[in-house]
Formats: sequence, C-alpha cells, structure tokens
Amino acid sequence: MTKRFFIETFGCQMNELDSEKIAGNLIHGGMTPAPDALQADVIIFNTCAVREKAVQKVYARLGEIKGRKAKKNMVVGVVGCMAQLENEKILKKAPFVNVLAGPQKGNVMCELIDRTLTTHATAIELRKDENPEPLETPYVFRENSWRANVTISEGCNCRCAFCVVPFTRGRERSRESESIIREVKELSTRGFVEIVLLGQTVNSYCDPRSKEITFTRLLRELSQLKGIERIRFASPHPNNLDDDLLKAMVECPQICNQIHMPLQSGSTRILQKMRRGYTREQYLEKIGKIHMAARPIAISTDIIVGFPGETERDFQDTLTLLDEVQYDYAFSFKYSARPNTEALAFQDDVPQEEKGTRLRVLQEHQRLIQYNKNSAYLDQEMEILVNDRAKSRYTLSGRTTNNKVVNFDGPESLLGRIVSVKITGFSANSLKGVWLQKEQAP
Ligand code: 5AD
Repeated sequence: MTKRFFIETFGCQMNELDSEKIAGNLIHGGMTPAPDALQADVIIFNTCAVREKAVQKVYARLGEIKGRKAKKNMVVGVVGCMAQLENEKILKKAPFVNVLAGPQKGNVMCELIDRTLTTHATAIELRKDENPEPLETPYVFRENSWRANVTISEGCNCRCAFCVVPFTRGRERSRESESIIREVKELSTRGFVEIVLLGQTVNSYCDPRSKEITFTRLLRELSQLKGIERIRFASPHPNNLDDDLLKAMVECPQICNQIHMPLQSGSTRILQKMRRGYTREQYLEKIGKIHMAARPIAISTDIIVGFPGETERDFQDTLTLLDEVQYDYAFSFKYSARPNTEALAFQDDVPQEEKGTRLRVLQEHQRLIQYNKNSAYLDQEMEILVNDRAKSRYTLSGRTTNNKVVNFDGPESLLGRIVSVKITGFSANSLKGVWLQKEQAP
C-alpha cells in the first residue's frame, strides 16, 4: 500500500520551499500526500529555530502525537533548523522520533524513511559544513500553480549577535545563475506568473561561475523571461542594498515594487551590539534612496525588542525611526536568547514583562502608521494577483505588486490570475475591493 505523508511547516518562506522539496522527493519515491496529519503514515515536522518559542511549539506537537504514534505504526520525522540545532536532545525528549534531519536534506528524505523502516533505528542525517548538500533539487511539489518560490542562495555569512541561522543553515552558497534561469523558464512554460527568489541574504547573491552576475543582474535577466509577470525576493540585507538594485526596480516593471529592509533596532548603540554593520543614520540614508526612487516602493521590516542592554531610550529610537520610515508592514519580536550565538553571553536583562510592553507599544505605533498609509488607497484601481481563498468573509484574496493584501468577492476561477479591483475599504493590515470584471472570467 502506498504510504501517505503529511508535512507540518514552521517558520520562514525558505522552510515552506524546503517542505515543497521534501514533498517532491517523497512523491517521486511513490508516496502520496495525506489531507491531514490524522490520516498520514508519515508525519514530518519541518522546523524553525530562530526563537525559543518556535522550538517549544514543535515539542508541544510531538507531545500531542505521542499517543497516536504508540497505537499506529507510523513514521515521525523532525527535520530542518531545530533538528540541526537540538540534534539528539530531541531523542531524549521524544525517543519515538524515527527521522532526524537538518535543513537541505529534502533530496534524501525517502532514503531516510526507508532506512528507519529497515533498521528500526532512528535515521539521523545532519548538515555538515565541510560536506554541503547540492543546491539543486530534482523534484519540487509546489503548493500552487501560479506562484513559485525559487532558491537562489542558502546559508548566511553574517554574524548578527542574536541569530542562530548561520549555525543551522551554514555558510552562504549561491546557485549557478544558468540553473536558476532554466528553472524559472520552465516554471513560466508551466504557467507560473510570479516567482519569489529566496536566500538568507538574497541580495548578496553572486554566481559561483561568474562574479559579474550579481543579484541585480540576475533580476534583470529573469525579468526578460516571457510569462513571468512578477518577481519578488526575500530577504535582502540593508548593507547590500545598492543604487543598481533600485535602478533595476524602477526600470523593470516585473520586479515588484516592494522591499523588505530588516532593521532590528533604531538605536545605533544596540545595532552595534547586534553586529548589524550599519548605524541608524546609514540605514536611514538607504531608506531615503528608496523613498526618492522614481517608482514608489513599499518597505517592510523586522524588529527585535528587548535585546540585551536595550534601554527605554534605545526603544524610543526605534519608535521615532518607524515614524521617519513609515513602513508598510513590520514583523516584530521579543528577543529570545539562542544557543551558539554571541548574544547568549550577554545578560538578557530586559524583563519579560517589559519586553511584552515594548512589543505592544511598537505594534500599536506601527498599526496606526499602516492604517493611515492604507487609507490613501481608497477609490484607487489596482491590479492584484489572486492568491488565495480569503480567510475573511470575502471569498478571495490577492496581492498588489507592492504586496498589499486585497480581499474581495469573485469566482474561484480567478485564482492565479492578475485582475483589476477598485479599493472600497481598508484596515491596518489589508484592503477591501470590488472586482472590476474587465477580464473575461475563464
Ligand atoms: N530573538 C528574536 N527575534 C529574532 N530574530 C532573529 N533572531 C532572533 C532572536 N534571537 C528575528 C529577526 C529576523 C527575523 C527573521 O527573526 O528580526 O530578521
């Protein structure tokens, strides 16, 4: 009987793509996807380690399935960043885990499952710096047929004091541009219209075969490809943002006018302790260039509150920076001490309660900024790529090129298509619109 698998993904976009690679490998090996975890013979937790909470969530899920695992003969895998970091600690807490694999092991997932079934022992396969996995993936089972994540690099050479990712995903490696272009061409012939280029610091991309092929050059080449209407990328590092990239974003309409600029803190003193490699002023100078670009570009960010030593004054510096930048969106987090990182040795001296207060204040501050910004879209006509069945009371939801979510009513046949909507309402997090039906419904 064919085995049915279910993958639960935690964390970032890169993890989502890794899950699609794992699914590709399992399907190629003869398994089929199960509609939910309850009906699966193989459950894979593809995990995140960036904050302690992400790790606790996986342990909680393992606790939940323990009873069922004892009754049913099924395979449980813990893979990805947390597996790499916690390693055999996981087996102490959950000895029933059958597969333990680091990130970038999608290509061998079937083998690992076969191995544990034959040996009746846990199959362990962690990532090794000295022996990295190939960046090419023969099989990817994509979640939809119009929007595809594409790996262009893996790993990170930064040493931000708070960040565990260099220890889980290793040093940065870029994929050959020829192979990326081939993949995107192939996606376009299959009808994909949006691609999202992924790398930990995506804009430090450099073709291993030719230094001339930088991130911007790759973007320009990809925007020539027929059928690819939208190109996004995540996540750039502010230090690698240059005039060339902004010029390409202005000149190539396919490159979406949206950029993620992870700030982390608005205080130069804290930025230095974090080893971010820029001051508040240098960061703002780059933002100024984005604001001045001939095409309006939406900006989003990541912020950590309560980093060791963060005073009320440092925190106020972050709030004033939000006012200056007027971000379109901000992801914000309480600092969480992580193994192996430099900041682990710093005294985690901002009390939990204070971290919570700062997070709430920051999120409310940003909510008002977004609310005001979104109000400017009222009555405008916008193009959206219809991406999803909406979670709200509307039937569908899509995104504008500058990444605003628009909820509206329309037939499901619009999924995957670019349509026009008129904006009729807004909140801090999304817009509401009516479909203009300029296009013939398919
Ligand atoms: N604690 C809290 N947030 C963190 N991030 C990374 N490491 C930590 C940590 N130790 C946040 C950063 C990063 C995002 C992906 O997660 O803001 O940009």
